[in-house]
Amino acid sequence: MQGARQLMKVFVTRRIPQEGMRILTQAADLDVSVWDSDEPVPRAELLKRVAGINGMLCLLTDRIDAEVLDAAGPNLKVISTLSVGFDHLAIDEIKKRGMRVGYTPDVLTDATAELTVALLLATARRLPEGVMEVKSGGWSSWKPLWMCGYGLSGSTVGVIGLGRIGLAIAHRLKPFGVKKLLYAGRAPKPQAAEVEAEYVPLDTLLTESDFIVVSCSLTPETKGLCDKAFFSKMKKTAVFINTSRGPVVNQEDLYEALSSGQIAAAGLDVTTPEPLPTDHPLLTLKNCVVLPHIGSATYSTRGTMAELAANNLLAGLRGTAMPSELAL
Ligand code: NDP
Ligand code: DGY
Repeated sequence: MQGARQLMKVFVTRRIPQEGMRILTQAADLDVSVWDSDEPVPRAELLKRVAGINGMLCLLTDRIDAEVLDAAGPNLKVISTLSVGFDHLAIDEIKKRGMRVGYTPDVLTDATAELTVALLLATARRLPEGVMEVKSGGWSSWKPLWMCGYGLSGSTVGVIGLGRIGLAIAHRLKPFGVKKLLYAGRAPKPQAAEVEAEYVPLDTLLTESDFIVVSCSLTPETKGLCDKAFFSKMKKTAVFINTSRGPVVNQEDLYEALSSGQIAAAGLDVTTPEPLPTDHPLLTLKNCVVLPHIGSATYSTRGTMAELAANNLLAGLRGTAMPSELAL
C-alpha cells in the first residue's frame, strides 16, 4: 500500500502509438490513465481527469490553459506534448507555476517537409482536380490547353520561417531546379547558407516568389500574417502553401484571393478550425487543396514522436534531463 501511494499519476489525453504507451505502462513508478479513444477528450472530461495528476501527455488538440492547470492542481509538474508546435499551451501560465514542458522537435522534420513538398506539387500541378476529371469522365482527350499548372524548374521559392522544417523543405525543393530561394523571418539564419537562401524583407518575398511556403510557428506576431494585404502583393501566378498552423492565415482573405484570381492556388495542411467544416467556402474552390493536418503522419514518425513524448514525460517526472525540453 505504501508503494502504491508513491506512484506518480499520469494522464494521457488520447490513444497514442504503442511505442510511447509501452514506455509509460512499463514504468514501475507511474500510475497511467488514458483517454482511450482516437477522438479528443471532451473539455469537461479533461478537467475532471487531470485532478491530482503529476504529469500529462497531451496533444495539439488539447488547449492547456489556466483552467486546466487549476483543475489539475499543484501536483502537476510536467506537460509533455506529442507535437513540436506548442501554441496550444499557455506558456506564461505554465512558466509561472514552475512546470517543465517536453515537445517533439526534429523527429518529425523529414516527414513534415516531405508532406509539404507533396502538397506543393499536388496544388501546383492540380493533382486532386486531375484525379477527379479521370473519375468523372471529364478526361475527353489529351488537350494542349487543359489541366496546365505551374512547375518548380526555374522558379523562385519563398519560405516564411526558415526553421527546422522550413530548411528541410528548402533542401528538398532545390533539386527540382529552383532558381532562387528567398526567406523571411525575424532574423537571418546562418543555416540558410546550406541552401543558398537569401534573407529578404517579407514584401520582397511576396512580390518575387512563384511559390510561397509558410513554415513558421504560430505566435501573436504570425497570427493572421497571411491576410488581404499579404495576398495582394503576391503574383497572380503564385502558389501559396501553409503547413504551419491555420490561424497564420486569414481564410476569408485567402478565399477572396483565390476566387478573384489574385493568386493562382493554395495548398493547406492546417486550417481554422480543424476539422474544416465540409461546407466551408474554401472547399468549393478547385484551386484550393486542403489536407487534414497530416504533416507528420508516417507510421514511423508518429511512433518516434510517441516514444519521445513518453521519455520526455518520464524524465520530467523523475527530475532528470528530458530528451527534448522546451526552454521556457
Ligand atoms: P522551428 O522553431 O524550428 O521553426 C519555426 C520558425 O518560425 C523559426 O525559424 C522562427 O524564427 C520562425 N518565425 C517565428 N516568428 C516568425 C515571424 N514573425 N515571421 C517569420 N518566421 C517566424 O520549428 P519547426 O520548423 O520544427 O516547426 C515549425 C512549425 O511547423 C511548428 O511550430 C508547427 O506549428 C508546424 N508543424 C506542422 C506540422 C503539420 O503536421 N502540418 C508538423 C510539424 C510542425 P526564429 O527562430 O527567429 O524564432
Ligand atoms: C506538430 O507537431 O506541431 C504538428 O502539427 C503535428 O505533428
